[in-house]
Amino acid sequence: MSTISIATAAEVFDLLRDDLAAIEQEFSRQSASKVEVITDIAQYLIAGGGKRIRPLLLLLSSKALDCTSESRIRLGAVVEMLHTATLVHDDIIDEADTRRGRPSSNTTWGNSKCVLAGDWLYMQSFSSALEERNFHVLELLISLTQQMVEGELLQIEKLGHLINEEEYFDLIFRKTACLFKVSMQLGAAITNAPDEVESQLGEYGRNLGLAFQIVDDVLDLTAAEDVLGKPVASDLREGKATLAVIHALERGTGADREAIRTVLADRSFSRVSHPQILEILQRHGSIDYAMDTACAYAEAARLGIVDLPDSEAKRALLWVPGFVTTRDR
Ligand code: IPE
Ligand code: IPE
Ligand code: MG
Ligand code: MG
Repeated sequence: MSTISIATAAEVFDLLRDDLAAIEQEFSRQSASKVEVITDIAQYLIAGGGKRIRPLLLLLSSKALDCTSESRIRLGAVVEMLHTATLVHDDIIDEADTRRGRPSSNTTWGNSKCVLAGDWLYMQSFSSALEERNFHVLELLISLTQQMVEGELLQIEKLGHLINEEEYFDLIFRKTACLFKVSMQLGAAITNAPDEVESQLGEYGRNLGLAFQIVDDVLDLTAAEDVLGKPVASDLREGKATLAVIHALERGTGADREAIRTVLADRSFSRVSHPQILEILQRHGSIDYAMDTACAYAEAARLGIVDLPDSEAKRALLWVPGFVTTRDR
């Protein structure tokens, strides 16, 4: 096993600073439409910030394979644009009023305009990806988008129902981990890496993405809204059972199960409060269980790349899983 050390946040940022800045510019350039409201919505979302973790992964994947092609900038912007489109649609579906610490775009512009702006962003990202003239890149992006849409649809169908862990993992793979996987695969695709290398990097992305969504779901239960920058305790209010809740439903007493079922069915905390649910989750170690599961996926991501040749990018890829599991927003 490699003895290479893990990078620090500052080192990762130094390594990627110029490329990330170029991706911001490219995203901004790609967001200009002749129809002003589309540009306004896109610029509003870009200015809201965000962690930019998907382009970061694409850059690290391509750098780990010594890629210097400009494709990494274009496709870095493509994955962030796709992500942004999913956020616009997700906030409409979830009726969320905050995103990245500001009013969500649907709150400002209304659902109708935002559905269309999201569609436009999807198509703009495909049109930009088309410039690569690479069918494999398009294949990855098309199948990804279908998986994400299927994930959101399946989630709607399961709202208010008690789902098991298998169903939960299928959902979070589709809605989140798939884009992490494809971001890593694209880094390999633009360097014409062998299939095994693309799969290996994709598997890192899949494991990391699962960890990422499990943490997102824990933060929804435990974080403060001003830190998270988006609504908290919203999953239960939307009727979504996430990993810690599924764990408590399996371990809890009859009364505990009934309390959780009530919130999921009511889609509100009117009869059972959020602190009451948190007490149930704490009593059964359900939050710890979810975080331990996220950490296990994060570790699997790390272990899956230890045999890559040593490089700064590899050190950074070893740092990302720890960032994902210790983040507070
Ligand atoms: C939010 O993604 C949607 C999920 C998949 C949980 P991020 O947490 O990456 O959102 P930003 O881009 O940093 O705002
Ligand atoms: C992420 O799920 C779904 C997307 C792919 C956009 P969430 O609904 O949990 O995302 P947040 O918490 O609103 O960011
Ligand atoms: Mg949401
Ligand atoms: Mg969430």
